Amino acid sequence: MYQVIDVDLGAQSYPIYIGQNCYVERDILARHIHGRQVMIVTQEKIAQHYLPALQKALVDYHCDVCYVPDGEAHKNLQEWQNIIDALLHSDHERSTTIIALGGGMIGDLAGFAAACYLRGVKYLQIPTTLIAQVDAAIGGKTAVNHVLGKNLVGIFYQPQCVIADINTLMTLSQRDYVSGLAEVIKYALICDARFFVWLEENMPALLARESSALLYAIDTSARIKARIVEQDEKEQGLRSLLNLGHTFGHALETAATYSDIRHGEAVGVGLLIATQLSADLGWLAVVDAERVKNLLAAAGFKRQLFPLPEASEWLRLMRHDKKTQDGKLNLILLKKIGEAVMTSEVREEQVKQVLGPECRM
Ligand SMILES: NC(=O)c1ccc[n+]([C@@H]2O[C@H](COP(=O)([O-])OP(=O)(O)OC[C@H]3O[C@@H](n4cnc5c(N)ncnc54)[C@H](O)[C@@H]3O)[C@@H](O)[C@H]2O)c1
Repeated sequence: MYQVIDVDLGAQSYPIYIGQNCYVERDILARHIHGRQVMIVTQEKIAQHYLPALQKALVDYHCDVCYVPDGEAHKNLQEWQNIIDALLHSDHERSTTIIALGGGMIGDLAGFAAACYLRGVKYLQIPTTLIAQVDAAIGGKTAVNHVLGKNLVGIFYQPQCVIADINTLMTLSQRDYVSGLAEVIKYALICDARFFVWLEENMPALLARESSALLYAIDTSARIKARIVEQDEKEQGLRSLLNLGHTFGHALETAATYSDIRHGEAVGVGLLIATQLSADLGWLAVVDAERVKNLLAAAGFKRQLFPLPEASEWLRLMRHDKKTQDGKLNLILLKKIGEAVMTSEVREEQVKQVLGPECRM
C-alpha cells in the first residue's frame, strides 16, 4: 500500500513512493532497475533490520553489498572511494544500479558515488530516517563533507525513484527520529502556515510515531520539497529557502566535527536562531516567534541542546558555508509563519548578537 508523488523534472522526472512495506515491492523495484547488477550501499545497523527482505525482493538480480561505517564523520571522500573500489572489484558495468539503503548520510554518499562511477550510473533512494524521507532523498543533492565544511564536494544528480517506507522509521533511536522533525517543521515555516497549525496540534502523535500522522507529515513535506525542486532544481533561487536554519546549523556541525550532534539537532537550533533574528529585525511578529519556539520546544529543540561555539567562531564558520556570496552572508529568515525570504542585508553585528550569550532565548 503506497501513495505516489511525482517529481517533474523533464527527462530526469521520478516518483516518490510513500507507504508501508513498499521498499520490498518487487514491481516497484523492477520498474526502476534496468540492468542485472545491483550494489546496495548501507550500514550494518540498518542492514540487520532491512537487508534480508530487500535481498529477497532482488532475487532476480546479481546483488552486492557495500557497508559504510556509521556517522556523519564518514561522509567523506575516503568512503566514496571505498564504494567506487567495491563497484570496480565486483565488475559492475554502466548498466548497474546503486541502491542507497539508509539515512541522509548514506543517500548523499551513495548518490555521489553513482554520479561519478563510470561517469554516472542509475541509483535508487530507500531512505530509512525521517530526515531522509522528507528531505535528503528528494531533489538530487549528493555530496561529501570536507574538513572545512559540510557538503563542499558534490553534484546535483537525480535518483530513479525514492521509496519511503514509514515502517523503517520504527527502529530509529528516539534521538535520530526526533532530529528529523526539525526538517518537517522547516517546511511549514517556509511556505505552509496550515501545516504549521497541524503540527502544533499533532506533535504528540508524531512523537509517538503514529502511522497516520507520519504518513500525513511525510506526504506533505515531500510534496513541498518536490514542488520547490521542480521550480529550481539547481538552487538558483527558490530552493535556497529550504536552507532555513541550515547556515547556522551547518556551522554548528562543523564546529562539533560532525561527531557530537545530529544534523537535525543542528538545524533545530538553527531554526531557533533564525526565528529570533527575524523577530529582532521586526520582521516576524513576537507572538509568532513564540509559537515557533514553542513548537520547536515541543519537539525537543532548545538552544542548550549542546555546547555552542563563541559567537565570533560561529560566524567565522558560517562564512565557509556554500550560501556565502561575494563575502556576504546569505541568510534565510522569516517574514511570517509560512513565508521565508533570502536576504544578504543583515549586518554581521546583528547576527553576532543573536549568536552570543546575551541573546534572550
Ligand atoms: N541531500 C539533501 O538534500 C540533504 C538534506 C538534508 C540532510 N542531508 C544530509 O543527511 C544527513 C543527515 O541525515 P540522517 O539524520 O538521516 O543521518 P544518518 O544517515 O547518519 O542517520 C542517522 C543514524 O540513524 C541510523 N539509522 C538510519 N536508519 C535507521 C533505521 N531505520 N533504524 C535504525 N537506525 C537507523 C544510522 O545508522 C545513523 O546512526 C546529513 O549528512 C545531511 O547533510 C542531505
